[in-house]
Amino acid sequence: MSQPNTAIIVGAGHRAITYASYAQRHPEQLQIVGVADPNPLRREQTAARFGLKPDQCHSSAAALAERPQQADFIINGTMDHQHVQTALPLLRRGYDMLLEKPFATSEADLWELVATVRQHQSKVAICHVLRHAPFYAAIRQHVADGAIGRVLNIQAVEHVSYHHMAVGFIRGKWSRIDYCQSPMLMAKSCHDLDLIAWMKSGVAPTRVASFGSNFQFRPENAPAGAGSRCLVDCPIEKECSYSARKHYIDHPERWSFYVWDSLEHIEAPTLEDKLASLETSPYGQCVWKTDMEVVDHQSVAIEFADGCTATLNMIGGSSKPSRSIHLLGTEGEIQGNLEESTFALRHIDPRPGREYEEQIIDVNVQGDMTGASGGHGGGDMRLVADFLKLLDGAAPSISTTTIEDSISGHLIGFCADRSMRQSTTVTIPTTQEKLV
Ligand SMILES: NC(=O)c1ccc[n+]([C@@H]2O[C@H](COP(=O)([O-])OP(=O)(O)OC[C@H]3O[C@@H](n4cnc5c(N)ncnc54)[C@H](O)[C@@H]3O)[C@@H](O)[C@H]2O)c1
Repeated sequence: MSQPNTAIIVGAGHRAITYASYAQRHPEQLQIVGVADPNPLRREQTAARFGLKPDQCHSSAAALAERPQQADFIINGTMDHQHVQTALPLLRRGYDMLLEKPFATSEADLWELVATVRQHQSKVAICHVLRHAPFYAAIRQHVADGAIGRVLNIQAVEHVSYHHMAVGFIRGKWSRIDYCQSPMLMAKSCHDLDLIAWMKSGVAPTRVASFGSNFQFRPENAPAGAGSRCLVDCPIEKECSYSARKHYIDHPERWSFYVWDSLEHIEAPTLEDKLASLETSPYGQCVWKTDMEVVDHQSVAIEFADGCTATLNMIGGSSKPSRSIHLLGTEGEIQGNLEESTFALRHIDPRPGREYEEQIIDVNVQGDMTGASGGHGGGDMRLVADFLKLLDGAAPSISTTTIEDSISGHLIGFCADRSMRQSTTVTIPTTQEKLV
């Protein structure tokens, strides 16, 4: 039997640990042999979880990169603005890498990383986990097989639920550009932009236009009488849909990994610890009175070199989280919703009394959205499994997201953000020019 691949976790946060947990389920395929993180508590917790010795624990990506290569690849789960700076020295050291999205926060960083990957011939997969969700993988396979002919339009929609919007983008780590360098479109919906680019694989996106704003979460929209912190000075907290108590105390596990990070040093925080934390932490703020500066809704229109058009509508604050996609081709259409795990494949039926024929395809991941195969519609663990196969020399799967394959989606996102801010249509730079 072949030896398991070995990996070092760089940035031992929520995402990296999720991917690394594959090693606990499949020790014959993956072994975690190190951690690098400036946070001593996270280093210790990771060392305890994976049985690491002190000399396998490093204080940062840079410190790890100073030492000779010690594993096959890196699981890089640092924050958005740290991806490139932490990745570069490790790629130069010879590591392959599973790298979180967005893999860069500017075009200049993107091209620098891509050039380094090329120079060192590194295997780098971007954690576009939705490509690995059976729902999207099956749709992509149908498109690649020609089931709907040439794709002329794609409509993608992401509804970011009120609780996800509040925890990530109003009160959380992605609420301001200076926290993470990512606008909401890149932090949240770069997956959907990537899916659009992937469905058009081999055809370059050429132009983009985008509109968006923070429509809702502004002080002037606060309910009458609202305070500034839910559990400190808000007389209407009990009636409010965004009460921090309702979101984080009444649902203690829902976003615990974000909300209770200030209590990580306590093994089992009590209710009193949590209530006290909400009196001072960002997660206890009134959602209408924060210093957030990202949009709460954004629309993006994209043109491809073959004339195909696409739209993405990202709307934060919906009652229900939802992702959907509708592709129209010259010979049919595909329409589906990730959460329902089914999509419709339709073809014209011009016979008398008919209009179209429809086949419902069930990708059967119900119950598997956060279960054995990980979250994101079953994409999380499938992404890791796919990357391990790639390292073992297998041909890339239809979902495998090499860095070069991820460029288009990121460029659409950067250009859409510029379009929105500058109220102009933006021409997307051609990848070929940059990669020669
Ligand atoms: N693929 C997805 O669907 C998905 C979902 C959510 C988040 N993300 C992305 O995952 C990334 C990580 O998010 P998270 O919530 O897990 O972050 P996190 O803040 O929990 O973890 C980041 C870790 O990086 C460590 N770190 C900082 N500087 C470092 C350095 N120089 N060297 C090594 N470690 C360093 C921090 O101490 C921290 O422990 C983000 O970029 C986020 O956008 C992806």
